Amino acid sequence: MPRRLLVTAALPYANGPIHLGHLVEYLQTDIWVRFQKLMGNDCRYFCADDTHGTAIMLRARQEGRSEEDLIAQVQQEHEQDFADFGIEFDNYGSTNSPENREICAKIWTSLRDKGLVKEKQVSQLYDPEEGIFLADRFVRGTCPKCDAPDQPGDNCSSCGTTYSPVDLIDPKSTLSGATPEEGSALHLFIELEQLHSFLEEWTQKSGALQPEIANYLKGHFLGDALRDWDISRPSPYFGFEIPDYPGNYWYVWFDAPIGYMASTQQWCDRTGEKFDDWWRSTDCEVHHFIGKDITYFHTLFWPGMLKVAGYSLPTKVHIHGFLTVDGEKMSKSKGTFVRARSYLDHLDPAYLRYFYASKLSSKIDDIDLSLEEFITKVNTDLVGKVVNLASRSAKFVRKTGLSAEYPDDGGLFQQAAEAGEEIAAAYEACDYSRAMRLIMALADRANPYVEEAKPWELRKDEAQAERLQDVCTVALNLFRQLAIYLTPVLPQLAKQTGQLLGEPITRWSQAQTPLVGTPVNQFKHMLQRVEPKKVNAMIEDSKEETGEGAAAASESQESKSQEFVDKWNDPGDSLEAEPLADECTFDDFMKVDLRVARIVEAEQVPDARKLLRLKLSLGGGVYKQVFAGIKAAYDPEKLVGRQVVCVANLAPRKMKFGVSEGMVVASGPGGEEIFVLSPDEGAKVGQRVH
Ligand code: 2FM
Ligand code: ZN
Repeated sequence: MPRRLLVTAALPYANGPIHLGHLVEYLQTDIWVRFQKLMGNDCRYFCADDTHGTAIMLRARQEGRSEEDLIAQVQQEHEQDFADFGIEFDNYGSTNSPENREICAKIWTSLRDKGLVKEKQVSQLYDPEEGIFLADRFVRGTCPKCDAPDQPGDNCSSCGTTYSPVDLIDPKSTLSGATPEEGSALHLFIELEQLHSFLEEWTQKSGALQPEIANYLKGHFLGDALRDWDISRPSPYFGFEIPDYPGNYWYVWFDAPIGYMASTQQWCDRTGEKFDDWWRSTDCEVHHFIGKDITYFHTLFWPGMLKVAGYSLPTKVHIHGFLTVDGEKMSKSKGTFVRARSYLDHLDPAYLRYFYASKLSSKIDDIDLSLEEFITKVNTDLVGKVVNLASRSAKFVRKTGLSAEYPDDGGLFQQAAEAGEEIAAAYEACDYSRAMRLIMALADRANPYVEEAKPWELRKDEAQAERLQDVCTVALNLFRQLAIYLTPVLPQLAKQTGQLLGEPITRWSQAQTPLVGTPVNQFKHMLQRVEPKKVNAMIEDSKEETGEGAAAASESQESKSQEFVDKWNDPGDSLEAEPLADECTFDDFMKVDLRVARIVEAEQVPDARKLLRLKLSLGGGVYKQVFAGIKAAYDPEKLVGRQVVCVANLAPRKMKFGVSEGMVVASGPGGEEIFVLSPDEGAKVGQRVH
């Protein structure tokens, strides 16, 4: 019985171009969808542009055009980029669509009817020049506690105090430089706490989330009361006006996930399908693919909204990590912040599809695009091991076609047919790197067969004509099996293979039966080797694109996306002085048990040059004695009462002055320049720090 699957990838913001970081997700999802379709499942891939919010409003203003004009242009570019990467959506919509407005209103009514919406007045700074209320990130000023100048609107980077932007001394709008005025505006909140027990159950027990995500939510959100979620913004705002609150708009994150439904609705209207068969049916699985930065929107708010409004809950939220390039965050100045279009200007999308597949697993670890590895992997695996099988045999059976019976190949075809199940399981589990390893292991068995049989020698001897046909029949069938297994990743190669052998690849099960007695068409080149100079040219172009005067996509903090425009310009000395340590896994990190602790005693240690003795409380009567090398920087009396972060499971160390049972986390080179880290206000002693 085919499964019905509704699949989504996060909706890209309409304020910037698609780049290689985004593509991790769209390709990961496309591969999964193509795999499901190949298995015969009724699987549909929906996406849309995420068009609302302050960032888009400000950019449109800056460019002197309407938001509608801006988002229409960006959407066209996005869709072209996706199409050129072979990413095939069943529908690609926009959150600024009538369908979305209508479904938002329905869900809103459900939330209101169930008593989840509450009004609050929120004091906020207002930029009189821009004419908008300023989110915290758009305000900077002097810290009210330590007088440090030019501090962000929410907490001081110098003394760590958290405050509201209205507390800043001499605040300035980062948008216009104007002095903001204090004001107060109505905001609407969803009382998520009312859904606490449902969310606890769903996140921990439904199996919809990766275990590390379920633990993260438990540790970070579900241990305490869930905070009310502010889902409205006062005018001016580019979005949908809330029907029963004129002058107020749904916050972009309210209508964005509903965009998944609106896109489905458009597809239903086009195809005659019923919306409820996809969003209100126990027969349909709902799969969301997202990046780890938007976890809480999709694992708390979104299931909460769906539950209240009576729609299907996500069967699975597949969360992936970020992309690094050559081990570092993508950088505009280094040219590693590569736009989809710049890539396409130089390289074949198949390379990236394969490379990402070879790196992706079901874990949330970041994936690295090492450019050298990219070149080697594609050339060795795809060109060297896969396409070579066809290019070295197809031309010799152009006239004869494949043998009428499948020849003895020592069990190679059968072995590869049997591997199909394991490869399919790896795709299903999103463990594409495993799928690619299994496929390449088959290629590693097929190639020696051709190398030993040497069709290029056989063809010189008329008497070997039959043997030549048999050898090529085996080689082409083994190649075809690989192409079938690679179809979700390399649809173009699958298409070419179908053309070469006269039978299109449409089903996974085709790998179980060899083709015999059929004609072989003219072999056309399938894949070029990656040329390092083209990779370099792409990097060079990306450097130019981000130079002075280029229209940098404005960062939308609403996404915490990688498209980060670093306006603080922090110098790189510290990083240079101590380069990043070797990568560690999430599990490695979790071995270190960091806890919020309170310093309950702090005193000088006679004779110690650098140390203070601290007594840390972890709550519940649990204490740890710690000798910390912070004497030159801190007066012990001032430390008492302060919350800090402590390494609580460090093996005790016997020191000259006593046993040290942990460590207090601090940064800085030493001496007077030591900065003990403290959690934000609200943290509780004993809480784990992740
Ligand atoms: O983080 C982002 O880029 C958002 N535009 C994703 C939205 S996903 C969904 F909720 F719409
Ligand atoms: Zn301060």
